[in-house]
Amino acid sequence: MEGKKHVFVTRMIPEPAIELLKKTCEVEVNGEDRVLKKDELLDKVKGKDAVLCLLTDTIDDEVLKAADRCKIFANYAVGYNNIDVESATRRKIIITNTPGVLTDATGDLAWALLFAVARRVVEADAFTRQGKFKGWAPQLFLGQDITGKTLGVIGAGRIGSNFAKKSKGFSMRILYYDVKRDLEFEQEAKAVFVDLDTLLKEADFVSIHVPLVPETRHLIGARELSLMKKNAILINTSRGPVVDEKALVNALKEGKIWGAGLDVYENEPDIEPELLNLANVVLLPHIASATYETRTKMALMAAENILAVFRGETPPNIVNPDALKK
Ligand code: GLV
Ligand code: GLV
Repeated sequence: MEGKKHVFVTRMIPEPAIELLKKTCEVEVNGEDRVLKKDELLDKVKGKDAVLCLLTDTIDDEVLKAADRCKIFANYAVGYNNIDVESATRRKIIITNTPGVLTDATGDLAWALLFAVARRVVEADAFTRQGKFKGWAPQLFLGQDITGKTLGVIGAGRIGSNFAKKSKGFSMRILYYDVKRDLEFEQEAKAVFVDLDTLLKEADFVSIHVPLVPETRHLIGARELSLMKKNAILINTSRGPVVDEKALVNALKEGKIWGAGLDVYENEPDIEPELLNLANVVLLPHIASATYETRTKMALMAAENILAVFRGETPPNIVNPDALKK
């Protein structure tokens, strides 16, 4: 087949990326503002040369098989646990993600959650709107100090280290745990490498920044939560299944920890119903990268990866270089 390459975009993303692709390609965008059903996805990927997909699309072996002409699935996310990378590699389909461009936005949102929980911002806002504010009161909405506390960072990759470094103005002690040490980060952030249990026992605020892989599923469960301080706050902006959500509900209900701020859930878009009734949690709808600037950069990055493949180049953000092996 000669002529233009065909790209399928599974849901509308910021326009500049679509325009960029349209300069040289035939572009079809899912016209409905919802996640495609499996059979729709199977139908749409057929005959396309590239697919730009989202973290809400499950790209399993069946979808990859149906994508009979496809050279690349460009994921519009840094996390790519929604894709069966092993199957893609076997089928010589390139997978790319969007690292770097959303690091600050995600680090920022983790802080927004930390502040919101520690200072009870959401609860207090609701109280004020409900007309309950009758004047300053000595015991109204007491929360937790942030300055001077101990920060525990689980996973010190791009996002975790960015989050940690942002604590600079708050004179915090930084502990971190990762599968490998990062001496540069330790120096730059004055961070101390500890094992997970030590981090959980000593940190006032624990923030999770690991990818979802088999080893990190339920990394934080009942045992881990029971190690945390009674005044501790857990923040998760990574992937929901890293935390055992039922165990978290119990820990929050029983006062084993003080609060939690979540942007991600174990079974999105479902949320453990009891979480919705707890006052000591702040719940966001997976919006860590949701700024105008960041989402545009992510979209352009995904498009650039596709265009690189069409030019016969190795795309800048390939996650499975083995797919290129002869
Ligand atoms: C968002 O969750 C992402 O992985 O980009
Ligand atoms: C993701 O970008 C990470 O490495 O933290």
